[in-house]
Amino acid sequence: MKEIIEKLRQSFIGDLAKADSSAQVNELRISYLGKKGSVTDLLKQLKDIKGSEKKTVAEGINALKSFVESEIAAKTALIAKREEDAAIEATERYDVTMPSAERLGSLHPVTIIQREVEEIFESMGFTIEDYSEIVTDYQCFESLNIPKHHPARDMQDTYYIENGQLLKTHTSAAQNAIMRKYGAPLRAVFPSRCFRNEATDASHENTFFQMEGIMIDENISISNLIYFMKSMLSEVFRKDINVRLRPGFFPFVEPGFELDISCLICGGDGCPTCKQSGWLELCPCGMIHPNVLTAGGIDTEKYTGFAFGLGLTRLVMMKYGIKDIRMLNSGSLDALSQFTSK
Ligand code: DAH
Repeated sequence: MKEIIEKLRQSFIGDLAKADSSAQVNELRISYLGKKGSVTDLLKQLKDIKGSEKKTVAEGINALKSFVESEIAAKTALIAKREEDAAIEATERYDVTMPSAERLGSLHPVTIIQREVEEIFESMGFTIEDYSEIVTDYQCFESLNIPKHHPARDMQDTYYIENGQLLKTHTSAAQNAIMRKYGAPLRAVFPSRCFRNEATDASHENTFFQMEGIMIDENISISNLIYFMKSMLSEVFRKDINVRLRPGFFPFVEPGFELDISCLICGGDGCPTCKQSGWLELCPCGMIHPNVLTAGGIDTEKYTGFAFGLGLTRLVMMKYGIKDIRMLNSGSLDALSQFTSK
């Protein structure tokens, strides 16, 4: 009996080597393990064997059965993989990294300018921060020295959401969190989309971009503010830009300013764009109010700082000469792609 089992094993090994498709392996399975299969047949013969030999023979046949089962399973898996590979090979292949033959996408003008300004500030040692568009009342107002019922809130008609949080009306809303995250000294810029319930027209949108910046250290003064703004704007416009400061009121800075740049169209001589003044309003800014520093956990005995809220959307419009702000959110590729050839 031992020889019969061994012979069957050898013939199975030979047959398996020849089986080359899943159908053939299946036939093999039936011919060895099926109801009338040769291994099954051997098992049936067991009943005729008597005495002590029966146990050894039974073990031998069962070992053969397990061997056949596991070899068939392995070969089935191998063939399935090979057949799958062949099927993939036979179908048409797509290179998902190939540029489209149709129309190439491009960056939005705001993205282009945002990245450019980020790079400039990065080269001046500023970190670039990202922050949520949904913030708390505390972050957007209270921590910025704008208590409840302060009239400054009326300037920013706010979208509240049901849980009491709100869509940030200005990037200043991230100041507190960023001060708390890093402490002083600190140089950071943080761009974001902002939202206000505005009636839209050529120069007003309910969704627009700002880029806030803060610099906090020992002995920071207005001269530092002017220096950084001038350097940044000269880089963005690739020419020397004159700036001037006018007083401006914002509860979170003291003193506060409106920063104007010399008109890009007429160079400061006066034209319709600058309403004959020679200046364009671009960026409110100021020295951070001690209450705001304290709320951010900064020691006001030791540190001072400046902050600015660059109107990124406004900057984009100036840089590209865009007359209607609504175009930027229009999603119209025809309109937007004029500016995005790079
Ligand atoms: N957050 C103000 C606004 O959107 C702009 C602003 C003014 C930001 C003065 C500043 C600042 O950082 O110093 O109306």
